[in-house]
Amino acid sequence: MTNTLFISSIFLVVLVTPGFCQTTTVCKEEDEDIRVDCNIPPKANQINSYEFSITVRNKETVINSNVTGITADQTFKNITRVESLDSLKGYRLRLSNYPITDNTTFICKASGKGANVFVEKGKMIPCSAISLFLQSCPWLWSLLLFLHVTQSWVPCAL
Ligand SMILES: *[C@@H]1O[C@H](CO)[C@@H](O)[C@H](O)[C@H]1NC(C)=O
Ligand SMILES: *[C@@H]1O[C@H](CO)[C@@H](O)[C@H](O)[C@H]1NC(C)=O
Ligand SMILES: *[C@@H]1O[C@H](CO)[C@@H](O)[C@H](O)[C@H]1NC(C)=O
Repeated sequence: MTNTLFISSIFLVVLVTPGFCQTTTVCKEEDEDIRVDCNIPPKANQINSYEFSITVRNKETVINSNVTGITADQTFKNITRVESLDSLKGYRLRLSNYPITDNTTFICKASGKGANVFVEKGKMIPCSAISLFLQSCPWLWSLLLFLHVTQSWVPCAL
């Protein structure tokens, strides 16, 4: 019981504390679209912009941006869509019909900050999975594993 409370409170702290976990995630939707959630909040009282890019074999390609002077790669222009999400406090990119055939790092930049998510070839996580949460919080994963080993509390399903 004490353990359950302990773990629940960790989850709670993680969920309610902004910036506790990096919440930029990359996952695959049921319709096979790739979704990149970029949790970098726009700043008040200034013109905000975003830039999404991917790096494959050390080559960085801008796939969507509304930064003045930056043009996205032609290939990606009409297969990407970006929306601004209040709930995410940032931007969400969708990439349609684009198979990931190589190790790919997804990068998003906004408000002078940047975030990277590395996706190994063939290891894209479905957006519905709980593991998506763990992707944004790798140290939490380690903690859960540690507790699992030491206390045999955490259900194997995790
Ligand atoms: C870029 O898009 C965001 C979200 O739609 C918008 O708030 C921002 O003003 C845009 N920035 C520029 C420079 O167009
Ligand atoms: C992108 O453009 C090509 C040709 O310009 C078109 O055939 C294709 O349907 C477009 N894709 C999307 C997702 O709009
Ligand atoms: C892809 O990434 C994995 C994990 O980092 C690595 O083991 C593998 O060699 C990489 N493959 C290529 C083709 O770079």
